[in-house]
Amino acid sequence: MGENLINDLFEQKKSKIPLWFLRQAGRHIPEYYDIRKKEHNFVDFCLNKNLIIESTKLPLKYYNLDAAIIFSDILMIPWAMRRNLRFLKDFGPALDPMTPGETKIVKNISIASKLEPLKDSISTLRVTLPKSISLIGFAGAPWTLACYMIEGKGSKDFINTRKALWSETKWFMELIETLIYYISDKLEMQAKAGVDVLMIFDSWSHMIPNNFFNECAINPISRIIRILRSRDIFVPVIGFPFKAGSSIIKYSFESGVDCVALDWSVDLSWANSFINKDIVIQGNLDPASLIPKDSVYLKDNVLSILDKMSDRRFIFNVGHGLTPDCKTDNVKKVIDIVRNYKR
Ligand code: CP3
Repeated sequence: MGENLINDLFEQKKSKIPLWFLRQAGRHIPEYYDIRKKEHNFVDFCLNKNLIIESTKLPLKYYNLDAAIIFSDILMIPWAMRRNLRFLKDFGPALDPMTPGETKIVKNISIASKLEPLKDSISTLRVTLPKSISLIGFAGAPWTLACYMIEGKGSKDFINTRKALWSETKWFMELIETLIYYISDKLEMQAKAGVDVLMIFDSWSHMIPNNFFNECAINPISRIIRILRSRDIFVPVIGFPFKAGSSIIKYSFESGVDCVALDWSVDLSWANSFINKDIVIQGNLDPASLIPKDSVYLKDNVLSILDKMSDRRFIFNVGHGLTPDCKTDNVKKVIDIVRNYKR
């Protein structure tokens, strides 16, 4: 039939429940390691058109999915801003940390030309993938990128970032402002190259002091969406304010997103009552539930998510990325349950 469940959903049609998985293309699939070996470092991997295409398509070989997320990383914007991004073994991402108030914030970078292989891979993928598969482009949110750029690495509490927000507020907001433009450019480039949906990951939104939540999480997203619309980009936008707790409600009304992705800590009955009813919900299976073999809880848990969302426009997904130890058999089992579910 060539139907596209995700596009239907955003066009207000009540479709069957579409599904895909955050980090579906990564290290839980054994073949990923063979593809990954073809480039020595991960940044070069993210800049190799053929490898982007191969890894974006990889999960479709294993699973019956409604979407493919383009293979890249949110940290490619800091890379383009010359923050010396590296991915170190057993450490994760490392960047040159910015000194708040002192480090010059680079302006006037052409994201589209720095990330040309990403654009080219999208153009190729959109014509080679079946129409029924939505291609999803993405970016990190300004706050989350600022966290990595200031800290220079991951952190349990992002204390330097929060300190910078309180002490060098003007500089901090200038960084957010610059990121708003670079993120908009990256999303625009992906939409023009052919993606059907855009997603913005705010993976560290739970580190925002509550009184700054509007300035750091909601307003920047609403600015990005307005910039995109003013550039004639009308593809739906999914926002992911990870672990933002009760602030998710305000976010769902004020950020302008077409869909809010919910993390695994969110109570879906609560979400159903209070989240903006005009937008789509995505989520929120705990990816850790896909690690144990033969879990007796998995099926009931998936069914309970589907039941709670049965009167909503809903995209089934996990509430955070699949982990390297996730079992492909569990993912297949979940897909079967969702596909056979009758509202
Ligand atoms: O299937 C997909 O979704 C693939 C595309 C994708 C990657 N990263 C590939 C990746 C996406 C959507 C991301 C987003 C991303 N990157 C986020 C937001 C989502 C989230 O998890 O909250 C964040 C915070 C990052 C930053 C990042 N990239 C970290 C912290 C790490 C190292 C930690 C880790 O998981 O190893 C990465 C590296 C990374 N990005 C890998 C992959 C497949 C592993 C790199 C490798 O192959 O060695």
